[in-house]
Amino acid sequence: MKKKLTFLGIETSCDETAAAVVEENLDGTGKIHSNVILSQVNDHKKFGGVVPEIAARSHLSNIEYVVDRAIKESGKSITEINAIAGTAGPGLIVCLTVGLSIAKSIAAFLSKPFYAINHLEGHALSPGIKKKLKFPYLLLLISGGHSQFLLVNNVNDYKQLGTTIDDALGEAFDKTAKMLGLPYPGGKELEDLAKNGDEDFCKLPLPIINKGGCNMSFAGLKTAVMKEIKKIESNKDNRKHIAASFQKTINEILFRKSDVAMKKFREVTNININKQVEFVVAGGVAANEKIRNNLKKLCKINNFTITFPDKILCGDNAAMIAWAGIQRSKKNLKNDLDFLAKPKWPLDDNAPFMKGPGLKL
Ligand code: KG4
Ligand code: ZN
Repeated sequence: MKKKLTFLGIETSCDETAAAVVEENLDGTGKIHSNVILSQVNDHKKFGGVVPEIAARSHLSNIEYVVDRAIKESGKSITEINAIAGTAGPGLIVCLTVGLSIAKSIAAFLSKPFYAINHLEGHALSPGIKKKLKFPYLLLLISGGHSQFLLVNNVNDYKQLGTTIDDALGEAFDKTAKMLGLPYPGGKELEDLAKNGDEDFCKLPLPIINKGGCNMSFAGLKTAVMKEIKKIESNKDNRKHIAASFQKTINEILFRKSDVAMKKFREVTNININKQVEFVVAGGVAANEKIRNNLKKLCKINNFTITFPDKILCGDNAAMIAWAGIQRSKKNLKNDLDFLAKPKWPLDDNAPFMKGPGLKL
């Protein structure tokens, strides 16, 4: 009989202390037995962003409790866990080190295999927990630190098709939210504020929309939003119109750039338009309903099926880390216990560097 794998995942790359127990189902999807996420958002709110020192201290104070709770809530005994997967990067080095050390210590103590997980691979594979994904697929990863189009050939095999040349999309949401007086992080709050706003209230720029392939740029929106805010009386009504206009602009950019990425994906893989392929949208910003609906429309036009992770798996969590560990174990991609945290760790090592002066698009 085929053996079902159960992994403990640990995640501390930024401001969530998380642990989870995930088991693989016989059909290749996953069952989440526990998924504990302790968000530090309230600790960082007053600073308007993540303070690494505070985040690391908070991970240290809470990690033991979070791991313990994840194991208890899973109903599994520690001996039923086959291996430990811990986020090793990219992220804040002082934060990564906390979860990674605990993951390695548990693995050593139990004499179980250890898997060092790239946080981005966690996001990339996360929709596979509920639905078996067919390779290759096109991935749009939109989070607080990254915005990329990737061709996912397989586990551990990624090709970057496009990326942001400046701010990440989550960062653009958070900065705009801050200017509109919303609390950090702001993406969800901005989406809520925009609900009854007039999305044609102001016209914002669409940076590099007709050039640079499916690379994206969001930094220019900040200045434009700032100018609009200066123009209005800062009452709630006008703020909601600016929020709606911002979201409409983001959707226009994502629609146009995803269209380019889909064409590039078909070109690189040699899969023609008659064959339906998968478009996976993951990361914190993938929780946004307007963005989901917008990209669903594009998929119909380009013969892609669309998959999002469940909303709880869009933001940072350890279930996706445990899941990536299970997938890597099938490729025998186990790691040694001397694996060090990597603050920078692209999924595609050959991707060109796309930031800074002198960049030619
Ligand atoms: O994936 P994630 O939890 O952390 C990173 O790995 O970066 O993404 C966090 C980002 C934040 O910028 C947050 O504001 C954004 O995701 N976000 C949203 C929404 N929910 C979270 N942005 C837009 N709309 C949302 N509903
Ligand atoms: Zn993330």
